[in-house]
Amino acid sequence: MRPFHTIIEPFRIKSVEALRFTTREERVAALARADHNVFKLHADDVLVDLLTDSGTGAMSSAQWGALMQGDESYAGSRSFYRFESAVRDLTGFKHIIPTHQGRAAERILFHTILHPGHIVPNNNHFDTTRANVEVEDAEARDLVIDEGRHPAVVHPFKGNIDLAALEALLDREGDRVPLVMVTITNNSGGGQPVSLANLCGVRALCDRYRKPFFLDACRFAENAWFVKEREEGQSGRTPRDIAREIFGLADGCTMSAKKDGLANIGGFLAMNSDAWAEQCRNLLILTEGFPTYGGLAGYDLEAIARGLEEVVEEPYLRYRIRSTEYLADKILNAGVPIVRPAGGHAVYIDARSLLPHIPPLQYPGIALVNALYTEAGVRCVEIGTVMFGLHADGTETAAALDLVRLAIPRRVYTQSHIDFVAEAVIHVAGMRDQLRGYRITAAPGALRHFTAAFAPLR
Ligand code: F0G
Repeated sequence: MRPFHTIIEPFRIKSVEALRFTTREERVAALARADHNVFKLHADDVLVDLLTDSGTGAMSSAQWGALMQGDESYAGSRSFYRFESAVRDLTGFKHIIPTHQGRAAERILFHTILHPGHIVPNNNHFDTTRANVEVEDAEARDLVIDEGRHPAVVHPFKGNIDLAALEALLDREGDRVPLVMVTITNNSGGGQPVSLANLCGVRALCDRYRKPFFLDACRFAENAWFVKEREEGQSGRTPRDIAREIFGLADGCTMSAKKDGLANIGGFLAMNSDAWAEQCRNLLILTEGFPTYGGLAGYDLEAIARGLEEVVEEPYLRYRIRSTEYLADKILNAGVPIVRPAGGHAVYIDARSLLPHIPPLQYPGIALVNALYTEAGVRCVEIGTVMFGLHADGTETAAALDLVRLAIPRRVYTQSHIDFVAEAVIHVAGMRDQLRGYRITAAPGALRHFTAAFAPLR
């Protein structure tokens, strides 16, 4: 037993960035200028920015130091080889293809291997993953376990894929499935982890039906920590060892280094197949750059290589997962409905339950997001009907859930920032009856949440 219980930030602060305080009136005006879409705000008008944990983390002094080591050679840069060996040591994959971020890896993989009519199963596709499948006229099918669809149900591995449903799909329509994907942790399903046992089950099915198995590995280290903490027989292992086993079960992965790469930009596509890798590299040259930089600077490759080492350190992961849970505990204890248990990188408020008087097609998530900004300057994101409700044929239905995600940037905010956020959420929940829905006044046909314009309903 440790003599002390407080889990402290396992770092001290060397460089700070001032926050700008605004008045409620200023925020009302800023939100109106932004068409009531927080993606269109000027970030200087945001006090605590929980829009995303992607690319928003603080790099370590070792990473900043590594930037100076960047080799900017167009071809064969030393930084690429350092990056390649860091990724290969961790994942074991044969081909390591750098990309400017995760969605570029998705686009290159799917454009290379998908044909119209194909089906890609996943626990839950993230929005860019789904869009990159659908743009190829293929279907993105979500097969998360039933517990993963119910916010209040507590389960240690709510991100697990439903193995029986996956088996039925492979059995009946296997000829339309070119690969199986699993997202760790399951961002669209509440940042919930996938167990090692479940991933072994996917591997066994992929072996039986001769399908490649790819991970969407953006938050692999957080997933590994949950396995260590929650899965029987895993507590004595290091997160790195668990992560290596997880990657070893797969045939490849897409990765956004903006999350568990602890970098501000970057990603990669990795795989064992020589044939697919060759085709992917050819497309990479067309759209991203030469295969030894893939749209990144040499210094970015250095930062990622170092980040992948830091992210699996135990003190970091213990603090990281606990700090998210700390926010979840505070607002849950005040009666705010959230996805339980807390996710790894974010707390997800169940906006549909909190605001039952706002129907899904009037976007309760947007109502909550905009109230949190107006009242407290906290920016977060809807993961619900605006993000997922519009279909390729132009019809709109309620998404499975209307969630609001408070994503925690890595190593950026301290406990008092999080205490403030909890206070803000509890304050807004207290005025829930006054919140009203929204309608969309303009939106593109895909990924509309980024740019849609909203008008408040009275
Ligand atoms: N897959 C998952 C599970 C993600 O969460 C993201 C990004 C991507 C793929 C795409 O990666 O942004 O580097 O192109 N998620 C961010 C978020 C944007 O806010 O959750 P990217």
